[in-house]
Amino acid sequence: MKTLHLRASSEEDVALAAALLQSGQLVAIPTETVYGLAARLGDENAIRTIFQVKGRPPDNPLIVHCARIDDISQVATRIPPIAWQLLERFAPGPLTLVLERKEGVPAIISAGLPTVAVRIPALDVTREVIARVGEPVVAPSANRSGRPSPTCVAHVLEDLDGMIAAVLDAGPCTIGIESTVLNLVGDIAIARPGAITAEDLASVLGFPPPLMDVSSHTPIAPGMKYRHYAPSIPVILIESLDALPSVMQNTSVVLSTQPLPETYNWRPLHRATVYDEFRRAERQQRQAIYVLLTPDVRKDVALMNRLQKAAAPSATSDVSHRV
Ligand code: TXA
Ligand code: MG
Repeated sequence: MKTLHLRASSEEDVALAAALLQSGQLVAIPTETVYGLAARLGDENAIRTIFQVKGRPPDNPLIVHCARIDDISQVATRIPPIAWQLLERFAPGPLTLVLERKEGVPAIISAGLPTVAVRIPALDVTREVIARVGEPVVAPSANRSGRPSPTCVAHVLEDLDGMIAAVLDAGPCTIGIESTVLNLVGDIAIARPGAITAEDLASVLGFPPPLMDVSSHTPIAPGMKYRHYAPSIPVILIESLDALPSVMQNTSVVLSTQPLPETYNWRPLHRATVYDEFRRAERQQRQAIYVLLTPDVRKDVALMNRLQKAAAPSATSDVSHRV
């Protein structure tokens, strides 16, 4: 299959992206966080294909993306008032809510869980595509499972070229890490930290929701247990430059929010570009990516979460420890 490279700036291309989705094809769509691999909500075959092309374990559920806030009642039921209040404040934007799944919504998207995750993406063009499709779309990140999420079209093609109908190019994602996932079924808690922080959420909830510790509890979504966001070379978190091997030369790279002396082969560390740096180091065949955990990085809960998952041991040992 030839993957079409469509432009978000072209009305025709936007219409074509929507038409492809309507006809049961997979299209990678831009969002403010990362690119998503979209399929029409009502098309179970297309949704099954998402799991296949990503190599995604079937127990990792997908996020439903809606064009308008009201549309979440198409997929969720018994929506608590706090959900509407949160959406009023944060939607469209990088907040995903886990709600009770409505009867009739394909169980495959939720990996059989009685819940459903929903969000309203911030980019106008994303919502325009969804509105043209005429129903919500499901969209996990448009990468092969376990790999760093794609924050530009080149990343999507690196993983999925020839396997999907098209990618709609809106340039690099501004946020660069995935949405905050907030569980509203049972105890309110953050299942995945993101750009919308616990403190931001406290302005509506009245308290900062705790972060779910998936290492010590049964995760609400089994798929949360897997190693994620990782390039094919080791990611090593270091407390200080003293931890670097003495002979490093150009075989490795150091990511740092603080400028380092020229003698280090270093690159800047930011949320928006961290996945791009992972993929760049991989293309350049570095031996390892060292990440300097300065106090500002440690304070960034969302960035630390991705770094720790990327640095985690391989998926197999991870699963055996956590199931
Ligand atoms: O920013 C984002 O959320 C991006 C863009 C494309 O919207 N999407 C994304 O999707 O990151 P994905 O599939 O890579 O991650 C979905 C996350 C997973 O951690 C999954 O476990 C969680 O959402 N999730 C989905 N449905 C859930 C559910 N019913 N209960 C709990 N967690 C759920
Ligand atoms: Mg993902």
